[in-house]
Amino acid sequence: MTTRQASVHGMWSSRLVFILAATGSAVGLGNIWRFPYVAGENGGGAFVLVYLLCIALIGIPIMMAEVLLGRAGRQSPINTMGQLVRRSGANRAWVYGVGWLGALTGFLILSYYSVFAGMAMHYITVMGTASMTDASREAAEGVFASLVGSGPLLVFWHSLFMVIVVLIVARGVKKGLERAVKLLMPGLFLLMLVLVGYAMTTGHFLDGMAFMFSFQFDKMSWAGVLEAMGQAFFTLSLGMAAIMTYGAYLPDNARISSTVATIASLDTLVAILAGMAVFPVVFANGLDPEAGPGLVFVVLPLAFGKIAVGQLIGVLFFVLLTFAAITSAISLIEPAVAFLIERLKQTRLMAASLVGMIAWTVGLGSAFSFNIWSAYKFADMTFLGFLDHLTNNIMLPLGGALIAIFCGWVLSQETCREQLRMSKEWQYQTWLFLVRVFAPAAVILVMFASIW
Ligand code: PHE
Repeated sequence: MTTRQASVHGMWSSRLVFILAATGSAVGLGNIWRFPYVAGENGGGAFVLVYLLCIALIGIPIMMAEVLLGRAGRQSPINTMGQLVRRSGANRAWVYGVGWLGALTGFLILSYYSVFAGMAMHYITVMGTASMTDASREAAEGVFASLVGSGPLLVFWHSLFMVIVVLIVARGVKKGLERAVKLLMPGLFLLMLVLVGYAMTTGHFLDGMAFMFSFQFDKMSWAGVLEAMGQAFFTLSLGMAAIMTYGAYLPDNARISSTVATIASLDTLVAILAGMAVFPVVFANGLDPEAGPGLVFVVLPLAFGKIAVGQLIGVLFFVLLTFAAITSAISLIEPAVAFLIERLKQTRLMAASLVGMIAWTVGLGSAFSFNIWSAYKFADMTFLGFLDHLTNNIMLPLGGALIAIFCGWVLSQETCREQLRMSKEWQYQTWLFLVRVFAPAAVILVMFASIW
């Protein structure tokens, strides 16, 4: 049965716009802020290799599954799943396991994503004053420490970011956003190249490369493998129905496989470029690659402070990082917003404000994890550490595995074939094997192995 209806939320004007929007979702703090520090904490090269394998063998097939599910249902993930479950006579538990879990995960990620995006916004002002010009490592570390040490400052930026996201989503994803993404993504990309160019002049470019690309497997634990897999899901925006929601707005004639391959390649390229920009500077300044979440916020300002027009580039960079975060945050909030519009017949403004307000409140816990609540720990993790672990290492892989199993085993093959329209049978069979067997098995194996 072909579904030629359009989504009530609107449609992307073309396949290209979908690529930009989905790449906007995928490219964000995960690539530029999270990837370098998680790679650093997990020994570099071996982590990067596992990460790349996860992208190719798990990420791409699951992303195809998400897009096809979204396009087959054309609604919020919860109602899309409801419809597909009815059509295929499957158990309603799938609506919870994929639809509700996805919207909840996106909401939880948004709560702390906004705090880090707020930090990026704060750094626009830091770079705007000349305070980083020729700054020492200690000074750069001090600026970061005073930001995270201040609850009110973090909350201020967190609030501002959330308001911006709500306002954009309230106006509709299509209006303004398509244009913004088209303009900003190439800009971000160009600036990454400038930064890599600077990293090449530090004299430590090869140390940085060696750190990222020398595969020392003794440094790799199962926990590290889980971390790499979680990062692959996070960076591709997978396992939480964001891409499924975007897929619901994708025109019928677009070919899913090549579209997804383009998005995944662009996203991976940006992450690798970020590593190439960051690690040489880390080694050139005697910083610790295992510095954790502050890595990029200390390293890049330090680098900018040493380039001739660094102040300007620094401002631009954090502006673009903020925009990259906005285009991701919109996809985090959209599944829940679309659902509220469908279910409660709310206006977009009401729905977005409601979700934004609750996410903002939960986000306070993450902002305070750096300062007044830093001593409160569950399982040796702060509130933020716990949320980050729960969402990236458990909820996203689990959500991804469920999506793969649903597509591979429950949904009719006719629907999958019709959506994917692969030109060669072996391509379809390869995809089917990956979502049926490989991806779910890999997720389960890695999750269990890392627990023991
Ligand atoms: N992919 C985004 C990033 O790398 C984060 C994200 C995760 C966005 C999940 C949407 C869904 O920053």
